[in-house]
Amino acid sequence: MTAADFAAIAELIYADSGIVLGENKVMLVYSRVAKRLRALRMTDFGTYCAFVRSPQGGEERGHLLNALTTNVTSFFREKHHFDHLATTILPPAIQAARRGARVRLWSSACSSGQEPYSIALTLLCLMPDAGSFDIRILATDIDNDILETARRGVYPRNLAGEIPPDLRRRGIVASNAGPDCFAMSDDVRALVAFRTLNLVRTWPMRARFQAIFCRNVMIYLDHETQSQIWARMVPLLSDDGALYIGHSERVCGPAAGLLHLDGITTYRPADHAPRRGQR
Ligand SMILES: C[S@@+](CC[C@H](N)C(=O)[O-])C[C@H]1O[C@@H](n2cnc3c(N)ncnc32)[C@H](O)[C@@H]1O
Repeated sequence: MTAADFAAIAELIYADSGIVLGENKVMLVYSRVAKRLRALRMTDFGTYCAFVRSPQGGEERGHLLNALTTNVTSFFREKHHFDHLATTILPPAIQAARRGARVRLWSSACSSGQEPYSIALTLLCLMPDAGSFDIRILATDIDNDILETARRGVYPRNLAGEIPPDLRRRGIVASNAGPDCFAMSDDVRALVAFRTLNLVRTWPMRARFQAIFCRNVMIYLDHETQSQIWARMVPLLSDDGALYIGHSERVCGPAAGLLHLDGITTYRPADHAPRRGQR
């Protein structure tokens, strides 16, 4: 892979997703794109780059993007967010749903599904009959391959330990994929709708969300792109909602002024009364 091949791939990925592939990602790009070359029985990166940029390479461009996303995640990652959700956001949201309101929660870079399923497990624990009300989780990602894994909802058994024991009993079942796996229960799966959504393109959603999880995706994007996404995302937050972001991220640009901190990497709309000592 020449420097020009790397630059061409980095340019395509940035144009398609906003993901910045710096020089420190050369080895990662090399090993992941080499797999695409093998899948296409190509022997050199130059031919691959020419193909993926050609009008015939449109489908491969999607495969390239899927290959270069980083999908690391876990159940109940940054557990304090789920504690905040359970104690602060969900109780009034559940009351509203019981009165007939529509309640939506958004996992905006959901990867293989552990984040939205953790939200669903948290919800079911507080509202076992959630499926009978209009309270749902939208889970989106740019990567179609990882969304297939998420929809399947089947995980290696060793990941079950990431789920608190009481929620494990309620929300996971044996999988017909074999004894080394578990599956999310039908109750949990029914609460989550998975959709493809590219954060740097237009979004179809109009209604507002009671909670938005936008965690560990902005770190891959440049400052300007982050700022534009926050400016579109924050207005989608309900007045009494919460935005949860990754531990190494921060809300930047004009949207930052619309929020106040309400816990570790947890934000609420600025006109929502802050908890004492947290502004
Ligand atoms: C590291 S995972 C984070 C998963 C989860 N939010 C968490 O914190 O555990 C980052 C995810 O962001 C997705 N992603 C990257 N760029 C994106 C974009 N432009 N639009 C939507 N999703 C994107 C990747 O496909 C990947 O699944």
